[in-house]
Amino acid sequence: MSDAVVRPTMEAIVNLAKRRGFVFPSQELYGGLGGFYDFGPLGVQLKRNIEAMWWKTFVQERGDVVGIESAIIGRSELWRASGHLEYFTDPLVECKVCHERFRADKPEELAAHPHQGQFTDPRAFQQMFKTFVGLTEAEENTAYLRPETAQGMFTNFENIVSTMRMRLPFGIAQIGKSFRNEITFRNFLFRMREFTIAELEYFVKPDTGDQVFEEWLAFMERVLTERFGLSPENLRRYEHPKDTLAHYSRRTVDIHYHFPWGWDELWGIAYRTDFDLAQHEKASGKQLRYRDPETNETYLPHVIEPTGGIERLFLAIMLEAYTVIEGGRTTTTEANKDEEVVLKLPKALAPVQVAILPLSKKEALLGLTQEVEALVRPQFTVDVDAAGSIGRRYRRQDEVGTPYCVTVDFDSVEDKQVTVRDRDTMAQERIPIASLRQWLTERFA
Ligand code: GAP
Repeated sequence: MSDAVVRPTMEAIVNLAKRRGFVFPSQELYGGLGGFYDFGPLGVQLKRNIEAMWWKTFVQERGDVVGIESAIIGRSELWRASGHLEYFTDPLVECKVCHERFRADKPEELAAHPHQGQFTDPRAFQQMFKTFVGLTEAEENTAYLRPETAQGMFTNFENIVSTMRMRLPFGIAQIGKSFRNEITFRNFLFRMREFTIAELEYFVKPDTGDQVFEEWLAFMERVLTERFGLSPENLRRYEHPKDTLAHYSRRTVDIHYHFPWGWDELWGIAYRTDFDLAQHEKASGKQLRYRDPETNETYLPHVIEPTGGIERLFLAIMLEAYTVIEGGRTTTTEANKDEEVVLKLPKALAPVQVAILPLSKKEALLGLTQEVEALVRPQFTVDVDAAGSIGRRYRRQDEVGTPYCVTVDFDSVEDKQVTVRDRDTMAQERIPIASLRQWLTERFA
């Protein structure tokens, strides 16, 4: 009986996600829509917990960062100024035999293809989704769904400085949906067409940019391990060669995660210089300069941008947490025949924090279960499960990562105590119902 060191396959994660209500392929009734996923009850809770943790870490706990939420659809002028209309493209090639399309800059995808070598010349494929705002589909009504949230921070730069009395260095953060018409979507939540970016534009004096870049890079790594529970050995830095940098970037370092198919980008940090503010100043004709309150000097700040995909992080967290116990570990005979899965999520992220399990469906126990539920539910996410043997119920909760199972048994009716079981150690402790809420509060603090 030991925790297997083998890491889960993507198949195991996709199956668990679907079977236990985390993630479903979107619009499956109609055959699905490639690159789009829906989050089920447990998935949306986990995703919100991840976003809340990001917001707490990058905004709430810092005195130098404020948050915004900007519009998803942007007019053409904005995307022309930002460079996305011209440069936000992927090199598209098509197999001359089967007409399947690929990204020319992903050799591993081309090599995996049986017709390799018989491709058309690459052409630039615009990744932004186009739409129209207004009553006609006229050229002047053309708009685009944002492929990143960053432009909302640049176009609101002046609003934030003047309304919030911000002084350099400071950041503007946002979490929001972004859209990219990816040529190939693959690996579940890794490359989607609609996804969520959490990003921060950190405005600094130009001569401090290189130093601040290093500080944020180290901060991001600490956050991924300490707050999101990823192991340091599954993370590495990847410095982008100059010729692969995005059009706005002077330097980019990705934080790679060791996914089942190999090392790949999880988060990134880019040194955007004053590229965006300068472009918007030029295109809008409005001044976006910062006035130094001490020297009265005006200049365009430089920008360091720590950024990350919430769904990629969701996937990495699931991979990291998925633990196989060979031979099982629960004590009932029907439950310990084969391997068991425990999702060892960081407690703060678990979609169900507390499961309440009445030992039987006898009226006295169900009544007490309701009392316990009424005490706990206002503060924690709760699942009351009365179906099946207790071993099976522990197993179901372990598989979705519930940190604490509270069992209401026949003694509970007499002594007003319940048994709390810890997901990771399986240690059981008898707690008076009157102090249960406090006991749990201390453990989730
Ligand atoms: N504002 C900078 C920017 O958008 P990016 O590296 O293109 O940078 C940011 O995207 C993050 O969004 C990436 O680090 C990645 O985690 C996530 N991401 C990018 N494309 C994605 C996709 N197609 N599906 C899911 N996540 C994606």
